[in-house]
Amino acid sequence: MSRLDQVKRSLEAAGQAHVLRFWPELGEEQQEDFLEELLLLDLQRLREHCQAAAEAAAAPPCSLDRDMEPVPPEIIGSVKWSDPSSLSRWEDEGFLQISKSRVAVLLLAGGQGTRLGVPYPKGMFDVGLPSRKTLYQIQAERIRKVQQLADSRHGSSCTVPWYIMTSEFTLKPTQKFFKENRYFGLDPSNIILFEQRMVPAVTFDGKVIMEGKGKVAMAPDGNGGLYQALVDNKVLEDLARRSVDFLHVYCVDNILVKMADPVFIGFCVSRGADCGAKVIAKAHPAEPVGVVCRVRGVPQVVEYSEIPKETSELRGPNGELVYSAGNICNHFFTRTFLEDVAEMFMDQLKQHVAIKKVPFVDSSGNLVKPTKPNGIKMEKFVFDVFPFSKNFVVFEVVREDEFSPLKNADGADSDTPTAARNSLLSQHSRWVSSAGATLLDRDGTVIRPASCSSADQHPAECEISPLVSYFGEGLEQLLKGKRISTPFILDEKRVEEPQEQ
Ligand code: UTP
Repeated sequence: MSRLDQVKRSLEAAGQAHVLRFWPELGEEQQEDFLEELLLLDLQRLREHCQAAAEAAAAPPCSLDRDMEPVPPEIIGSVKWSDPSSLSRWEDEGFLQISKSRVAVLLLAGGQGTRLGVPYPKGMFDVGLPSRKTLYQIQAERIRKVQQLADSRHGSSCTVPWYIMTSEFTLKPTQKFFKENRYFGLDPSNIILFEQRMVPAVTFDGKVIMEGKGKVAMAPDGNGGLYQALVDNKVLEDLARRSVDFLHVYCVDNILVKMADPVFIGFCVSRGADCGAKVIAKAHPAEPVGVVCRVRGVPQVVEYSEIPKETSELRGPNGELVYSAGNICNHFFTRTFLEDVAEMFMDQLKQHVAIKKVPFVDSSGNLVKPTKPNGIKMEKFVFDVFPFSKNFVVFEVVREDEFSPLKNADGADSDTPTAARNSLLSQHSRWVSSAGATLLDRDGTVIRPASCSSADQHPAECEISPLVSYFGEGLEQLLKGKRISTPFILDEKRVEEPQEQ
């Protein structure tokens, strides 16, 4: 039987014969490409996938209300509430592990960034900082700095490998961008790019959507596609070969991410955790972020939409929200835990339904851009492994120091490039003030430190290179007592002689 006949038969068996409707109209080359693409699809599971998608989309939203409870305080560490000596112990532990090259970072960068709407990977986005650095560059420089800090504490020469999960949309441009920028000073052999799987988008009645006459509409399988991708690309073997035991997993869009955060890593390691989540206190009950809690006794992230209003508004004795642990997609995993997930739990990962507008070709072969949602994309989420953890911990951090995600284009209410830029500049202004320097505006007027909050609409143009300071440390010796005119960029070249007035 020819390859085409095989594919035809599998598609018919899956109730998807329409996929080949326009086959006779395709040129020879198009047919060859299309056939290759179809052979890569998991045709055995296609029927199951389409049915599951249609059923899940039609199912009423579930409420986990009765089974939820907040995470108990004994598994929570907090930048705000834990005592300073514990925080400093955790930081020491984190740096020790980093210095031994036992820590890696793993970036989830396979998303399509549809809300931001740029035709290139989000990590390549420049939010308009004075330095014009992109998110990828900022992250790369933070890795370099955290390595340096660990080395200077322990006299080591450590490596924090950078694993980057991409997708069909982001792999090639990311590779090219890193190469063009000479890997931002990192050793290319310690940057490991790999690709997640794609799955077909499906109509509400369970039919694969065609985005062209010879092209199925495909989307990455969600950031929880990570676990399959770790296996597909032998990443777990690579981690073992490098003797990496701990991973810090994070999203591409958070401009304030603390790469390989020593405090978080140290907290998780000291507690013997196999899995951990960083959280921030929710700003208000209706803030649309997932909440880290327990459901039937096991840790889980419950999505905003799954929590009834009354539950989200519940308050404790001191007026604090009961369900306030907002998930910010900053996770800790041990390698052993990831190996267990790959071996035992992969098939148990939940599928989430995302209803989207998916452009398609109609039965006459015309391309239609739908005005309302017409398709289902099935996604897995990275946090859906929490229930498999044997020792799960939570670490609370301060929003304005660690979380400002880039999700939307400018003009939206929140999470825009301007908001991301402002939150970084405000943070750096706070660092400079805490280091004992005074910032001056263009007219020479003193900028009051009180106006450096993250909500500041017009923060001082003050940017500190991650190569100079990872999290505000080391600035006092450089800046104390100085009056600094803005715009001000403190990069490694200017460390010797910062601008002064
Ligand atoms: P988001 O859910 O914000 O999705 O991803 P997105 O693709 O960036 O943006 P929209 O929703 O299309 O506007 C959160 C993180 O998960 C990664 C993203 O790259 C981002 O770092 N992600 C998402 C993946 O790695 N793979 C996916 O399939 C989806």
